Amino acid sequence: MSIEVRTVGDDDIPGWITALAGGFLHPPVATDEDVAFRTAHYDPARTQGAYDGGRCVATFRSFAQELTVVGGARLSADAVTGVTVSPTHRRRGLLTRMVENDLRAAKERGDTVSTLIAAEYPIYGRFGYGPAAWTTSWRIDVARTRLDPRHAAPESGGRIDFATSEEVRALGPGLHDRFRVRVPGAVSRTDAWWDRNTGTVRLPSSPWTERHNAVYRSPSGEIEGLACFTVKARWEAKRPENTALVDGLIATTPAAERALWQFLCSIDWVLHVDTGNRGPDDLLPHFLGDPRAAAVQDHSDFLWLRPLDVPRMLEARTYPVSGSLVLEVEDRAGLAGGRFLLDAGPDGATCTPTTRSAQLALGVGELATLYLGDAPASRLAALGTVREERAGAVATADLLLHTAARPWCPDMF
Ligand SMILES: CC(C)(COP(=O)(O)OP(=O)(O)OC[C@H]1O[C@@H](n2cnc3c(N)ncnc32)[C@H](O)[C@@H]1OP(=O)(O)O)[C@@H](O)C(=O)NCCC(=O)NCCS
Repeated sequence: MSIEVRTVGDDDIPGWITALAGGFLHPPVATDEDVAFRTAHYDPARTQGAYDGGRCVATFRSFAQELTVVGGARLSADAVTGVTVSPTHRRRGLLTRMVENDLRAAKERGDTVSTLIAAEYPIYGRFGYGPAAWTTSWRIDVARTRLDPRHAAPESGGRIDFATSEEVRALGPGLHDRFRVRVPGAVSRTDAWWDRNTGTVRLPSSPWTERHNAVYRSPSGEIEGLACFTVKARWEAKRPENTALVDGLIATTPAAERALWQFLCSIDWVLHVDTGNRGPDDLLPHFLGDPRAAAVQDHSDFLWLRPLDVPRMLEARTYPVSGSLVLEVEDRAGLAGGRFLLDAGPDGATCTPTTRSAQLALGVGELATLYLGDAPASRLAALGTVREERAGAVATADLLLHTAARPWCPDMF
């Protein structure tokens, strides 16, 4: 019997949730609360399921997102999530059918890129996605930081206070909007994200643990940073050996960032601080008296991008120097490829289709890796994944696309 891939309606939601949970190896159940929450928030036109004899065997969903690019502009992105195929139906092309449907619709809608967080590296390259922002997490050994807990008050003259989750629900979105324009790779957060991440909405499928929320205010009273954390308690021979697990630390100034990390490292009973997902060149280790007190726990690809409109993408970001480059962008799916002339400089950029000879040839996935500044063109050339068609083109691309910092996507979605 052939398997039908289609968008879902309200009646399909319980079976769709059960398949989603099972595909991620969670208990395959859909509670009334899960069904009510999902029904209130899903977009029927962007939620797909695969059906075998009436049973849902694969899930896929996308939603509207904004992605911050180099220079602070925000691109309309098609964010992909909830991707599963039942272990009984894998490697029969169901994911391929759902991705192709979604990318075609995103292109028609006018989205500039598609985004996702890949569960495994080999899944999405074939569909034109490329790794665009890596992530690093550290474990801080507080005793090695050489920070003096007697000086926990911010050196900046600002202050730190705890906030309730209700207060975070109210102040978080405004702070996050100011934060994300400064961080290429950061993405917008939906109301549903804030509801679930402040405990405003609690679902049995993802149990909520109340957090400690530390808010940093500048000397003039501006809210400039927020660190949310839980604590893993452990006592050994009457000695406290707790670990603070940071579940998001965002700041709009380095002073706020420094103050929040130093605060986390000053809490009695806490011997270790696990930072969670940070940018690969995060300032954190250098806020500590001994940067080696922060040991890398994890370092891997995180945000993947799929270009859908090359001219809009390249015109949206900023460039540190003036220059031009003819790019041959290859796209097997036929959605975004072509030959484009990028003419860019500190005052802006144009990117238009051209018949001039190509100078640099690359796939859409490689363009994703270069775009936010995660890797320079010379690195990809050394790996053989971009091709120099005219001598000097790689060096020009390195200069044009150079960024001061690597991108960072703080959010799992
Ligand atoms: C990843 C997943 C969705 C793939 O679904 P699927 O229907 O089996 O994928 P398809 O049959 O369309 O595969 C298309 C191609 O990708 C390859 N592929 C798919 N998943 C892969 C994986 N995890 N690792 C390596 N290759 C993979 C297939 O082998 C196939 O290649 P081929 O055309 O050369 O034979 C499915 O395995 C799954 O649900 N995994 C667990 C949950 C998960 O990781 N979800 C993704 C969250 S981001």
